[in-house]
Amino acid sequence: SYLGIDLGTSGLRALLTDGEGTPVASAERHYEVQHPHSGWSEQDPADWIAALEGAVEELRRQPAWADLRGIGVAGHMHGAVTLDDGNRVIRPCILWNDTRSHAEAALLDATPGVRELSGNIVFPGFTAPKLMWMRSHEPEAFARVAKVLLPAAYLNFYLTGDHVADMSDSAGTSWLDTGARDWSDALLDAGGMQRDQMPRLVEGSDKAGALREDLARRWGVGPGAAVAGGAGDNAAAACGTGVLSEGQGFVSLGTSGVLLAARDGYRPAPESALHSFCHAVPATWYQMGVMLSCTDSLNWLARITGTRPAELTSALGDCIEAPGRLRFLPYLSGERTPHNDAAIRGAFTGIGAETSRDDLTRAVLEGVSFGLRDSAEALASVGARPEALLAIGGGSGSRYWLRLLATVLNVPLRLPRAGEFGAALGAARLGRVAATGEDPREVMLPPATGEVIEPLADLTAAFDDAYQRFGPAYRGIKKVQ
Ligand code: XUL
Repeated sequence: SYLGIDLGTSGLRALLTDGEGTPVASAERHYEVQHPHSGWSEQDPADWIAALEGAVEELRRQPAWADLRGIGVAGHMHGAVTLDDGNRVIRPCILWNDTRSHAEAALLDATPGVRELSGNIVFPGFTAPKLMWMRSHEPEAFARVAKVLLPAAYLNFYLTGDHVADMSDSAGTSWLDTGARDWSDALLDAGGMQRDQMPRLVEGSDKAGALREDLARRWGVGPGAAVAGGAGDNAAAACGTGVLSEGQGFVSLGTSGVLLAARDGYRPAPESALHSFCHAVPATWYQMGVMLSCTDSLNWLARITGTRPAELTSALGDCIEAPGRLRFLPYLSGERTPHNDAAIRGAFTGIGAETSRDDLTRAVLEGVSFGLRDSAEALASVGARPEALLAIGGGSGSRYWLRLLATVLNVPLRLPRAGEFGAALGAARLGRVAATGEDPREVMLPPATGEVIEPLADLTAAFDDAYQRFGPAYRGIKKVQ
């Protein structure tokens, strides 16, 4: 059997599959995010270990557990776990959605050569500026940093006793030469770091090590279970949905929204604010646009109108309305793609005396869809044009939204049939490939399609028109904020 671990922002999910990769059981444990100051977002890695141990305790009852052969870890990206020379955690992990180091990020981003080597803008959430922040604000702690591990690599360390990280997650640090799939001495130098502070690199689907013997004994697992390099959560979700080759992609409607396309080559385009990262399988990359407030925008509207998101969307019925004057700019927490603008905030424009709650809901769904279209346009500009997209994530429960999004993107959306296809499955698949040496492309197949949502041909032109005014609306509110 194989174990996939998805170390998420709000909790950890562990999925056990049988030898054929079919899910047999899962267990979940939750933990908190600490916000000691505005813009700060931290977690204690000890909470992740407690969550993992709790989930394992539950899964051990499964008969399939005893012949566990491979483990893979997917993690929330960009977080910095700092270890001293005794492998003790120095300070809480600074998470991907922590914006305290925006000034350091801007400084590093403006350093000649940084975008070229890393292939990406240095976004405020990325890892390198976090260590620059530590260097100036917590110098004693910074001086003790012997190793920096991303959250998934910290679990790899717990599992194997070795400092080892995968390419896909490491590409989100601004220390990796993403094209060469190796740490870059120039980038490390620009960020004030050294190569010996970095973990050893392996491909996500390669074996990073074996499960520690003491852990294997305590967990009741036979000797020698392989631990894979693992992946950042988006690459792992791509493994879970079988998005590995040119022409394949997914749109994930979660707290943040992601439009991701697999690439068979490395074609960075930092100026587009696309993320260009290594995939979790060798010689493959992926590019994605990230919008920061996706379902979060709808959750916000639900919260302030005293209802639930599903009630807001079900009140709209099934019939998609053509866009009107009312518009919503979905920048509740700033934006990554295409604006790289941490300071911008959202807006409603065109509110009339007749505007109803349903109108606001429609505008929010349209605004978020236009934001995703920005990412689709950015991907198209580098030649990534998936013919269809898998739709995953919590927001894919709303029919109205799916039909609207298919129309705004003018691309069919495929809904996977109910079942497993997320980061935990992707991680279990990485564990399997690391253990067996199978061809990743034979293991990481797309889920069966339950339904295809086609664009509404009679509305695409109207939404194209409305989209043409979306960019100028951003520039307009930018002037007055
Ligand atoms: C990707 C990103 C998020 C986190 C969330 O760049 O910041 O998707 O990985 O888990």
